[in-house]
Amino acid sequence: MKKHYDTAVIGGGIIGCAIAYELAKNKQKTALFESGAIGKRTTSAAAGMLGAHAECESRDAFFDFAMHGQRLYETAGKELQEAAGIDIRRHNGGMLKLAYSKDDITRLREMDDLPSVTWLSAEEALEREPFASKDILGASLIKDDVHVEPYYVCKAYAKGARRYGAECYEHTHVIEIKRDIEAFCIKTSAGDVYADQVAVASGVWSGQFFAQFGLGQPFFPVKGECLSVWNDEIPLTRTLYHDHCYVVPRKSGRLVIGATMKPGDWCDKPDIGGLEAVIKKAKSMLPAIEHMKIDQFWAGLRPGTKDGKPFIGRHPEDSGLIFAAGHFRNGILLAPATAEMVRNLVLNQEVKTEWKEAFRIDPRRRFRYDPSAERKTN
Ligand code: FAD
Ligand code: GLY
Repeated sequence: MKKHYDTAVIGGGIIGCAIAYELAKNKQKTALFESGAIGKRTTSAAAGMLGAHAECESRDAFFDFAMHGQRLYETAGKELQEAAGIDIRRHNGGMLKLAYSKDDITRLREMDDLPSVTWLSAEEALEREPFASKDILGASLIKDDVHVEPYYVCKAYAKGARRYGAECYEHTHVIEIKRDIEAFCIKTSAGDVYADQVAVASGVWSGQFFAQFGLGQPFFPVKGECLSVWNDEIPLTRTLYHDHCYVVPRKSGRLVIGATMKPGDWCDKPDIGGLEAVIKKAKSMLPAIEHMKIDQFWAGLRPGTKDGKPFIGRHPEDSGLIFAAGHFRNGILLAPATAEMVRNLVLNQEVKTEWKEAFRIDPRRRFRYDPSAERKTN
């Protein structure tokens, strides 16, 4: 008998697993297809910061969506513990965004009016984190910044989805999506299945399906290299952050140190130069890491888009096809909000107009933010 689902989700990273969970929880007959093992690609590489304040540079629809994502995590941990029996290892320490120059101070102080942000002098910052660099001129304290362990969040979503009835096929590569008259035929390495709707959530590899459905190829990898060290030497409660680099104290006692930004590099192995750069940067924030023992090192491919924002929504001409990809530096933070948005689209429930507009599936969207590209196309 041929298998037929309400929705087929392509990609078993955090975005695909969160979507499968939300759909299955809402009684949709759901299948998820993952080329390899669940959560082992970019999701596993992430530091897990839920950094709406750290990562968003303006107060736009994206910031609003990111803040919503952060709030959803307040209940997601408990819900996933109940649904899947997996602890997502949330750590509530907060974050210090460090300032080393007048420019840093000016930029950081633009966040002063946000309720969870407090500006600290260098002395006040060092009182809280005595092992941070003595070279700082001050720091923004983000009290409610938290982090989770992404692989566990992803596994919890996948296990929860299965418990709600979803079928998750690992090591099953989707080769092609074919539009039949009433449904989609999904051609996989294990045979064909059918679905009324398809949600493409295959991270930086989603471009294949964008191109197939006439939307061009808007994704590119931005490789990030990281390492972790064992810390049994110094107390560090808060994440230290400067210029997109960070030292994140995990619950296990390890510190996660990241990350480079290498656009266009499809190789997911770290190189010596990349690790050297992040170590140098981390030492400038936390000199004591010099003597810490290395635990692991790795790299992952952030799904980059031209405007740094994900594509979440329906194909402009085929409403059965939904995309949720391109979460760049923030896929962990945005997973619950993305899954909620996709669920609402599938169930024909309300979605904020600003979010639909900001993340719409429009191959020209990226040009809006790139005046030189706009000139070339006119
Ligand atoms: P992925 O995790 O890559 O999942 C996509 C999946 O689709 C893969 O498992 C792949 O095998 C599968 N797939 C691809 N093609 C097919 C196919 N044809 N058929 C079947 N399966 C397919 N974000 C944060 O919010 N906070 C952080 O602190 C953070 N830190 C980061 C640090 C680093 C070093 C990196 C690299 C990223 C970081 N990110 C962070 C970003 C975050 O990791 C990504 O945005 C997120 O993992 C994207 O999730 P995804 O599910 O879209 O992609
Ligand atoms: N959000 C952290 C990173 O992408 O490195």
